[in-house]
Order: sequence, then C-alpha cells, then structure tokens
Amino acid sequence: MNGSEHEWLNQACHELSLAFANPTLDKDAALKMLSLMKASMLLHYAEEENIMKTTGYQNMGSHKRSHDYFIFEVSTLIEMVSSDAPALSASIWPDLKKKLDNHLKTHDELLTGYIEGQFQRSAG
Ligand SMILES: [Fe+2]
Ligand SMILES: [Fe+2]
Repeated sequence: MNGSEHEWLNQACHELSLAFANPTLDKDAALKMLSLMKASMLLHYAEEENIMKTTGYQNMGSHKRSHDYFIFEVSTLIEMVSSDAPALSASIWPDLKKKLDNHLKTHDELLTGYIEGQFQRSAG
C-alpha cells in the first residue's frame, strides 16, 4: 500500500468532481477517467487486501466490503455515462466521493496504523 496511490486516487476524484459539475459533461473524457480510476482501484484494493490477508488483519471483512462497494459503484457510473445518463451519474457522484474520502480517513488510516505497528513489532 502506498500513499502516492491514495494521492492519485484523490486527484482523480477531484477531476471527476469538476467534470460532473459541468452541465455539458465531456462524456469521452469522463469515461476515460472513470475507467482509469476503476483499473487503479482494482490494483490498489488487491494490494491492500493481500496485506490484510497475509497479516491476519481483523477488520478485513468490512474493509473489503467497502472496496467491493466502490468497484460496483464506479462500474455503475461507467454504465450510466456510456448509456447517456450523465445527469444521473452526476447526481450520484458527490455522495460516492464523500464515501471514498471517508474510506481513506477510516479504513485506510486504520490499516496504515496497523501495518506500522506490525513493522515496529517485527523490528523491535
Ligand atoms: Fe487505500
Ligand atoms: Fe482500502
């Protein structure tokens, strides 16, 4: 897990917010960004889940459910934008972005603290 991936995901979220705030949504640009984001999420989530699994992390269940939810929602957004429902996708985005921010501040912060603790234990 690394912080620059979180930064990149944050940046992608910010750009999507700008795109969805524009009433004349650039469909191709939004689709490209969403697809890139989904691919990055899949890689990033797999990495976190692998760490959780190998270290026997206790909160893996709820953390992974949160990841699965985001992949499902981003896939739904991709379908909506593709099938010309951009207004609907724009209305869904703010809540999803809030949840993504919240995931970073809760699940990912907890996991980061846990991993740091594991390192300290194995170093000390
Ligand atoms: Fe993460
Ligand atoms: Fe996560």
